[in-house]
Amino acid sequence: MTQDRTILISGASSGIGLATAEALATQGARLILTARSTEKLKEASQLITSKTGNKNISHHTVDLSSQSSIRSLATQIKNTYEKIDVLINNAGGVFPEFKLSADGLEMTIATNHFSQFLLTNQLLDLLKRSEAARIVNVSSDSHYNGKIDFESFQKNKGYFIMKAYAQSKLANVLFTQELAERLAGTPITANSLHPGFVKTNIGNKDTSWYASAVWSLITAIGAISVEKGAETSVYLASSPEVQDITGKYYNKCKEKTPGKQTFDKALQKELWRISEQLCPI
Ligand SMILES: NC(=O)c1ccc[n+]([C@@H]2O[C@H](COP(=O)([O-])OP(=O)(O)OC[C@H]3O[C@@H](n4cnc5c(N)ncnc54)[C@H](OP(=O)(O)O)[C@@H]3O)[C@@H](O)[C@H]2O)c1
Repeated sequence: MTQDRTILISGASSGIGLATAEALATQGARLILTARSTEKLKEASQLITSKTGNKNISHHTVDLSSQSSIRSLATQIKNTYEKIDVLINNAGGVFPEFKLSADGLEMTIATNHFSQFLLTNQLLDLLKRSEAARIVNVSSDSHYNGKIDFESFQKNKGYFIMKAYAQSKLANVLFTQELAERLAGTPITANSLHPGFVKTNIGNKDTSWYASAVWSLITAIGAISVEKGAETSVYLASSPEVQDITGKYYNKCKEKTPGKQTFDKALQKELWRISEQLCPI
């Protein structure tokens, strides 16, 4: 099933994305890895090849908080590859303080939601060339605590790191549901997932020393390995069991009911409308 499928994974230089890439390389996929650092991507590609023997790995740098950088990545991808079979929107981050992106969007929502929205829409033509394409959006169970406040996309409305993160992860699920509806009748599926509480450095990057110390402590105690954390992404990207499943949320390779607010059709549509307004596709 996965042999020779072309799979693009964002945020593949470390953590869950790197472990996802390694597992899919083992299954014989052609991989396109993306992240911000060329050095880290080179190291990741070499590591995956040395561990799996798969040499079919290329990489492209992108800053997913920047719309122009995403557009330029999409152009490179469209000029280089004939089709994409699976797009895994995995990259994400947390930001301790309110900060605006180059496009004037709050950094958490820009990096975690607008990147998925823009990259997916920019690559739809390539996905449509696949006989059966899949879009896999990495969200989080944090979305259950999320609330969408459209004004906070551009303004500081009492910024708090976990509030912003939960909002962005709720946006991932809402976006996936709306995308699945828009793609109904095409051979492209779209699903979102919670990878588990995973031992990565996400809470040590771009954060204050105390947030980083708390993250290190709690992940040391309770978090699962990156290999385990990658399992649901790998499952949704490759398992024949979910070939025709779309618009669902997964955890531990099983369907799970997402937060009540994710079923709000008006909210799904409003998020798409505002996203398109702030980030033309
Ligand atoms: N760890 C958990 O417990 C957990 C739980 C639920 C959900 N998640 C989700 O899982 C996903 C992966 O997180 P992780 O824990 O594996 O984190 P991680 O180890 O920090 O990996 C994040 C990846 O995203 C890339 N990235 C970050 N910002 C980027 C940007 N602006 N442009 C391009 N690439 C960027 C990073 O690469 P560079 O920094 O090299 O660019 C890295 O490859 C995220 O969506 C996160 O929200 C994680």
